[in-house]
Amino acid sequence: MFFKSLFKPNPYEAKLNPFKVDIHSHILPGIDDGAQTLKQSIELIRQFHLLGYTKLIATPHIISDFYPNNREIILEKLYTVKQVLKQEEINISLEAGAEYYVDMHFLNLIEDKNLLTFRKHYVLFETSCITKPLILEEIISNLLKKGYIPVMAHPERYNYLNNNIENYKRLKALGVLFQVNAKSLYSKSKSTSNIAHQLIKYGLVDFIGSDAHRIRDIKRLEHFLKSRTCKKMLKLNTIKNNL
Ligand SMILES: [Fe+2]
Repeated sequence: MFFKSLFKPNPYEAKLNPFKVDIHSHILPGIDDGAQTLKQSIELIRQFHLLGYTKLIATPHIISDFYPNNREIILEKLYTVKQVLKQEEINISLEAGAEYYVDMHFLNLIEDKNLLTFRKHYVLFETSCITKPLILEEIISNLLKKGYIPVMAHPERYNYLNNNIENYKRLKALGVLFQVNAKSLYSKSKSTSNIAHQLIKYGLVDFIGSDAHRIRDIKRLEHFLKSRTCKKMLKLNTIKNNL
Protein backbone atom coordinates (compact mmCIF):
# COMPACT_ATOMS: atom_id res chain seq x y z
CA MET A 1 0.00 0.00 0.00
CA PHE A 2 1.18 3.50 -0.84
CA PHE A 3 -0.36 5.32 2.12
CA LYS A 4 0.21 3.75 5.50
CA SER A 5 -2.63 3.94 8.00
CA LEU A 6 -1.92 5.47 11.42
CA PHE A 7 -4.48 3.26 13.12
CA LYS A 8 -5.37 -0.40 12.99
CA PRO A 9 -8.91 -1.36 11.95
CA ASN A 10 -11.32 -1.70 14.84
CA PRO A 11 -14.45 -3.59 13.80
CA TYR A 12 -15.94 -3.00 17.28
CA GLU A 13 -16.58 0.71 16.58
CA ALA A 14 -17.61 0.03 13.02
CA LYS A 15 -20.36 -2.30 14.13
CA LEU A 16 -21.60 0.04 16.86
CA ASN A 17 -21.74 3.16 14.73
CA PRO A 18 -25.42 3.97 14.07
CA PHE A 19 -24.46 6.43 11.33
CA LYS A 20 -23.36 5.40 7.89
CA VAL A 21 -23.17 8.83 6.31
CA ASP A 22 -21.30 12.01 7.23
CA ILE A 23 -22.46 15.14 5.42
CA HIS A 24 -19.86 17.72 6.47
CA SER A 25 -16.10 17.40 6.07
CA HIS A 26 -13.05 19.14 4.67
CA ILE A 27 -11.27 16.13 3.25
CA LEU A 28 -10.39 17.23 -0.27
CA PRO A 29 -6.73 18.24 -0.42
CA GLY A 30 -5.33 21.76 -0.62
CA ILE A 31 -8.44 23.81 -1.32
CA ASP A 32 -9.47 25.02 2.14
CA ASP A 33 -8.39 24.80 5.78
CA GLY A 34 -8.89 21.01 5.98
CA ALA A 35 -6.63 18.32 4.49
CA GLN A 36 -3.65 19.94 2.79
CA THR A 37 -2.20 16.93 0.97
CA LEU A 38 -3.57 13.88 -0.78
CA LYS A 39 -1.94 11.75 1.90
CA GLN A 40 -3.83 13.61 4.65
CA SER A 41 -7.10 13.24 2.70
CA ILE A 42 -6.69 9.49 2.41
CA GLU A 43 -5.76 9.11 6.06
CA LEU A 44 -8.88 11.06 7.15
CA ILE A 45 -11.12 8.99 4.88
CA ARG A 46 -9.54 5.79 6.12
CA GLN A 47 -10.43 6.76 9.69
CA PHE A 48 -14.06 7.35 8.73
CA HIS A 49 -14.09 3.96 7.06
CA LEU A 50 -12.71 2.29 10.18
CA LEU A 51 -15.49 3.91 12.21
CA GLY A 52 -18.06 2.22 10.00
CA TYR A 53 -19.00 5.08 7.68
CA THR A 54 -19.93 3.96 4.18
CA LYS A 55 -20.54 7.35 2.61
CA LEU A 56 -18.95 10.78 3.01
CA ILE A 57 -19.93 14.12 1.58
CA ALA A 58 -16.87 16.33 1.20
CA THR A 59 -17.91 19.95 1.74
CA PRO A 60 -15.04 22.35 0.99
CA HIS A 61 -15.56 25.97 1.98
CA ILE A 62 -16.71 28.36 -0.69
CA ILE A 63 -15.94 31.83 0.67
CA SER A 64 -15.28 34.24 -2.17
CA ASP A 65 -12.61 36.25 -0.29
CA PHE A 66 -10.73 33.31 1.29
CA TYR A 67 -11.52 30.07 -0.51
CA PRO A 68 -12.70 30.93 -4.02
CA ASN A 69 -13.62 27.34 -4.82
CA ASN A 70 -16.11 26.44 -7.50
CA ARG A 71 -17.76 23.36 -8.98
CA GLU A 72 -14.84 22.58 -11.34
CA ILE A 73 -12.10 22.86 -8.68
CA ILE A 74 -14.06 20.73 -6.21
CA LEU A 75 -15.06 18.01 -8.68
CA GLU A 76 -11.50 17.75 -10.00
CA LYS A 77 -10.18 17.16 -6.46
CA LEU A 78 -12.98 14.70 -5.82
CA TYR A 79 -11.97 12.71 -8.90
CA THR A 80 -8.31 12.58 -7.81
CA VAL A 81 -9.16 11.39 -4.31
CA LYS A 82 -11.60 8.78 -5.61
CA GLN A 83 -8.90 7.36 -7.88
CA VAL A 84 -6.56 6.87 -4.93
CA LEU A 85 -9.34 5.34 -2.80
CA LYS A 86 -9.82 2.79 -5.56
CA GLN A 87 -6.08 2.03 -5.73
CA GLU A 88 -5.94 1.72 -1.95
CA GLU A 89 -9.06 -0.47 -1.93
CA ILE A 90 -10.82 1.71 0.63
CA ASN A 91 -14.42 0.81 0.05
CA ILE A 92 -16.28 4.00 0.83
CA SER A 93 -18.54 6.16 -1.27
CA LEU A 94 -17.32 9.75 -1.65
CA GLU A 95 -19.33 12.65 -3.03
CA ALA A 96 -18.84 16.39 -3.03
CA GLY A 97 -21.09 19.18 -1.91
CA ALA A 98 -19.78 22.44 -0.49
CA GLU A 99 -20.07 24.59 2.60
CA TYR A 100 -21.35 27.88 1.22
CA TYR A 101 -20.68 31.05 3.16
CA VAL A 102 -23.61 33.45 3.24
CA ASP A 103 -22.50 36.43 1.15
CA MET A 104 -23.43 38.14 -2.12
CA HIS A 105 -21.49 35.54 -4.11
CA PHE A 106 -23.68 32.78 -2.66
CA LEU A 107 -26.80 34.82 -3.41
CA ASN A 108 -25.73 34.99 -7.07
CA LEU A 109 -24.92 31.27 -7.23
CA ILE A 110 -28.41 30.45 -5.95
CA GLU A 111 -29.88 32.65 -8.67
CA ASP A 112 -27.93 30.64 -11.28
CA LYS A 113 -29.22 27.40 -9.70
CA ASN A 114 -25.80 25.86 -9.96
CA LEU A 115 -25.07 24.74 -6.42
CA LEU A 116 -23.21 21.66 -5.27
CA THR A 117 -25.70 19.66 -3.27
CA PHE A 118 -25.97 16.37 -1.46
CA ARG A 119 -28.92 14.04 -1.80
CA LYS A 120 -29.94 16.12 -4.84
CA HIS A 121 -31.50 19.12 -3.09
CA TYR A 122 -29.72 19.64 0.23
CA VAL A 123 -27.37 22.63 0.47
CA LEU A 124 -24.98 23.15 3.39
CA PHE A 125 -24.33 26.76 4.36
CA GLU A 126 -22.56 28.68 7.11
CA THR A 127 -22.52 32.32 8.22
CA SER A 128 -20.29 34.67 10.14
CA CYS A 129 -20.09 33.49 13.76
CA ILE A 130 -20.52 36.97 15.16
CA THR A 131 -22.82 39.08 13.04
CA LYS A 132 -26.13 38.02 11.63
CA PRO A 133 -25.96 38.48 7.85
CA LEU A 134 -28.51 41.03 6.62
CA ILE A 135 -29.32 38.70 3.73
CA LEU A 136 -29.85 35.54 5.82
CA GLU A 137 -33.64 35.38 5.40
CA GLU A 138 -33.33 36.31 1.71
CA ILE A 139 -30.83 33.48 1.19
CA ILE A 140 -33.12 30.97 2.92
CA SER A 141 -36.17 32.05 0.99
CA ASN A 142 -34.30 32.04 -2.36
CA LEU A 143 -32.91 28.57 -1.70
CA LEU A 144 -36.39 27.26 -0.97
CA LYS A 145 -37.86 29.00 -4.03
CA LYS A 146 -35.27 27.30 -6.24
CA GLY A 147 -36.16 23.90 -4.80
CA TYR A 148 -33.17 23.52 -2.48
CA ILE A 149 -33.32 22.36 1.14
CA PRO A 150 -31.15 24.67 3.28
CA VAL A 151 -29.00 22.98 5.94
CA MET A 152 -27.31 25.31 8.41
CA ALA A 153 -23.87 24.05 9.41
CA HIS A 154 -23.05 24.15 13.13
CA PRO A 155 -25.88 26.45 14.29
CA GLU A 156 -24.46 26.13 17.81
CA ARG A 157 -21.53 28.36 16.84
CA TYR A 158 -23.40 31.53 15.91
CA ASN A 159 -23.18 34.12 18.68
CA TYR A 160 -25.90 36.24 17.11
CA LEU A 161 -28.47 33.55 17.94
CA ASN A 162 -27.73 34.40 21.59
CA ASN A 163 -28.06 30.84 22.91
CA ASN A 164 -31.80 31.43 22.69
CA ILE A 165 -33.72 28.35 21.67
CA GLU A 166 -36.58 30.55 20.36
CA ASN A 167 -34.23 32.04 17.75
CA TYR A 168 -33.42 28.51 16.58
CA LYS A 169 -37.07 27.55 16.43
CA ARG A 170 -37.75 30.66 14.31
CA LEU A 171 -35.10 29.58 11.79
CA LYS A 172 -36.49 26.07 11.67
CA ALA A 173 -39.95 27.47 11.05
CA LEU A 174 -38.54 29.17 7.94
CA GLY A 175 -37.57 25.74 6.60
CA VAL A 176 -33.92 25.45 7.70
CA LEU A 177 -32.49 22.12 8.83
CA PHE A 178 -29.74 22.01 11.45
CA GLN A 179 -26.45 20.12 11.28
CA VAL A 180 -24.72 20.09 14.67
CA ASN A 181 -21.00 19.27 14.92
CA ALA A 182 -20.21 16.27 17.10
CA LYS A 183 -17.04 18.04 18.23
CA SER A 184 -19.06 21.05 19.48
CA LEU A 185 -20.37 18.89 22.32
CA TYR A 186 -16.80 18.89 23.68
CA SER A 187 -16.00 22.50 22.80
CA LYS A 188 -13.93 24.66 25.15
CA SER A 189 -16.57 27.31 24.58
CA LYS A 190 -19.24 26.62 27.20
CA SER A 191 -21.92 28.46 25.24
CA THR A 192 -21.24 26.38 22.12
CA SER A 193 -21.41 23.06 23.95
CA ASN A 194 -24.44 24.15 25.99
CA ILE A 195 -26.49 25.15 23.00
CA ALA A 196 -25.44 22.02 21.09
CA HIS A 197 -26.80 19.93 23.98
CA GLN A 198 -29.96 22.05 24.12
CA LEU A 199 -30.59 21.60 20.41
CA ILE A 200 -30.34 17.84 20.89
CA LYS A 201 -32.60 17.94 23.95
CA TYR A 202 -35.31 19.84 22.07
CA GLY A 203 -35.11 17.47 19.09
CA LEU A 204 -34.02 20.27 16.76
CA VAL A 205 -31.03 18.48 15.22
CA ASP A 206 -31.41 17.01 11.73
CA PHE A 207 -27.83 15.94 11.06
CA ILE A 208 -24.84 15.23 13.24
CA GLY A 209 -21.64 16.04 11.36
CA SER A 210 -17.93 15.66 11.84
CA ASP A 211 -16.86 18.93 10.18
CA ALA A 212 -13.58 16.99 10.00
CA HIS A 213 -10.53 19.06 9.12
CA ARG A 214 -7.98 16.81 10.80
CA ILE A 215 -7.59 13.49 12.62
CA ARG A 216 -8.42 14.93 16.04
CA ASP A 217 -11.92 15.80 14.78
CA ILE A 218 -12.50 12.15 13.95
CA LYS A 219 -11.28 11.13 17.39
CA ARG A 220 -13.90 13.47 18.89
CA LEU A 221 -16.50 11.99 16.57
CA GLU A 222 -15.58 8.52 17.79
CA HIS A 223 -15.94 9.73 21.37
CA PHE A 224 -19.40 11.09 20.57
CA LEU A 225 -20.51 7.87 18.87
CA LYS A 226 -19.83 5.98 22.10
CA SER A 227 -21.51 8.57 24.32
CA ARG A 228 -24.84 8.60 26.16
CA THR A 229 -25.70 11.84 24.35
CA CYS A 230 -25.54 9.98 21.07
CA LYS A 231 -27.88 7.28 22.36
CA LYS A 232 -30.26 9.92 23.74
CA MET A 233 -30.28 11.74 20.44
CA LEU A 234 -31.07 8.58 18.51
CA LYS A 235 -34.13 7.96 20.66
CA LEU A 236 -35.58 11.31 19.54
CA ASN A 237 -35.51 10.00 16.00
CA THR A 238 -34.84 13.34 14.28
CA ILE A 239 -31.51 12.46 12.69
CA LYS A 240 -31.46 12.17 8.92
CA ASN A 241 -27.81 11.18 8.33
CA ASN A 242 -28.67 7.76 6.95
CA LEU A 243 -31.73 8.65 4.89
FE1 LIG B 1 -17.05 23.12 7.90
